[in-house]
Amino acid sequence: MNAGSKPALFVFWDVEQAPIGELTRQADGATSFRYLPGAGARRPISHSLPLDDGEREHPGTFFENLLPDGIQRERLARRLGVSDASTFAMLEVVGGDCAGALTVARWPLAVRARATPRPLDEALLRKLLETGVVPTVVSEGLRLSLAGAQDKLPVVLRDGTLALPEGRAASTHILKLPNRDFPGLVDNEHFLLELARDAGLPVVRSVRWPLPAAGRERFGLLVERFDRAGGRRLHQEDLCQATGMPPSRKYQADSGPSLLDVVAVLDAASTEPRDIAQLVRWQAFNVATGNNDGHAKNLSLRREPAVCLAPAYDLVCTRAWDSLSKDLAFGVAEVRDGGAVGPVAWSRFAEEARVGRRLVLDAVAQVTTAVAERATAVANAVIEAGADERAVSRALECVRRCARRALRLAELERPPVRAPARRRPKRATR
Ligand SMILES: Nc1ncnc2c1ncn2[C@@H]1O[C@H](COP(=O)(O)OP(=O)(O)OP(=O)(O)O)[C@@H](O)[C@H]1O
Ligand SMILES: [Mg+2]
Repeated sequence: MNAGSKPALFVFWDVEQAPIGELTRQADGATSFRYLPGAGARRPISHSLPLDDGEREHPGTFFENLLPDGIQRERLARRLGVSDASTFAMLEVVGGDCAGALTVARWPLAVRARATPRPLDEALLRKLLETGVVPTVVSEGLRLSLAGAQDKLPVVLRDGTLALPEGRAASTHILKLPNRDFPGLVDNEHFLLELARDAGLPVVRSVRWPLPAAGRERFGLLVERFDRAGGRRLHQEDLCQATGMPPSRKYQADSGPSLLDVVAVLDAASTEPRDIAQLVRWQAFNVATGNNDGHAKNLSLRREPAVCLAPAYDLVCTRAWDSLSKDLAFGVAEVRDGGAVGPVAWSRFAEEARVGRRLVLDAVAQVTTAVAERATAVANAVIEAGADERAVSRALECVRRCARRALRLAELERPPVRAPARRRPKRATR
């Protein structure tokens, strides 16, 4: 342990066992991490943090990525009265239940071993909706943190009702709340998740969840966590963490990771031969549905039981709002205008990624065609099931425009049939 005067936070796979790492606050305010020597750290916490014997201090980038981003991070810092650069101070308060398996806490633990889950009642829901999740989490003494800029709360779903994960309990779901600045966001995301599932992508399970405290009945989106099973936390990391980037660089345009960087991580770490095709299908879906917010924190790796791409989550037709970026978060061979991404760009991507061009073009064609053919039926089904017609129709209009444009470009740029490019031996099966 760090016996010096620097205050330390500890990192646990399991709070019932010894810590596996330590976070310290440096004199300049920066947070750093090191593995603790010993058997506890038998597996690395990130692709960007290979195991060592604790002799190295690493920047706290991985941990910064566990905290909310953007405006939510600013709110958290303001609520705690600390600088929004202080990853350490924020994790000290909210680092109990995070994305993935790790818990960050003082040691010995001052956290109750078992707590009865507290129902998410109407009064608390009203507070969450009016005050915002981050300030409410802090004032209620909850130790919960999730990345992302939208208001969302990790919850436990038990017997059809929602409760708060108190003490050492792990959340099972994420409740994403409506956003006043983007009316219809919940139903837009719900529609896109359903459309992605219909198009055959692996997608998180989600359901619209009534929020009676909102006055007239409004809905949140309840998303099942892919990093929880039977009350256990399973490890995951997003592609900022895997590439060692801070959340401020989640967009490629901010010198963040590119799709080729993601391919390199999958090449080195994934045990799933179909991951490259899944990555291509995810990005083709973003292009065909006008989702320009598919950035490096909206793409994750499961790390348990083996490393592979996690199911798709946070799919939104961002083109439905004129105020949002018109450019893709990840370029395809540097093409960031979704309307210009066709077989030429995808073929260049295949060449640069050393992946079979046929595999890429077939994956793109399958997803684009499925989106174009199925969007209206899926939209009607979600409206029929209760989603807001205006929100879904607005998203549908944009999706149809993007998908049609992608199909037209595919016709115009249809490449001559050639033998697939040679690939590196490691990916010979992909
Ligand atoms: N179903 C899930 N299971 C496990 N972790 C998830 C799941 N959905 C989201 N996450 C984690 O929570 C983070 C925030 O979720 P999400 O991306 O949906 O929020 P957001 O606020 O809408 O994000 P953004 O800032 O990109 O708009 C993700 O980056 C991911 O780490
Ligand atoms: Mg997100």
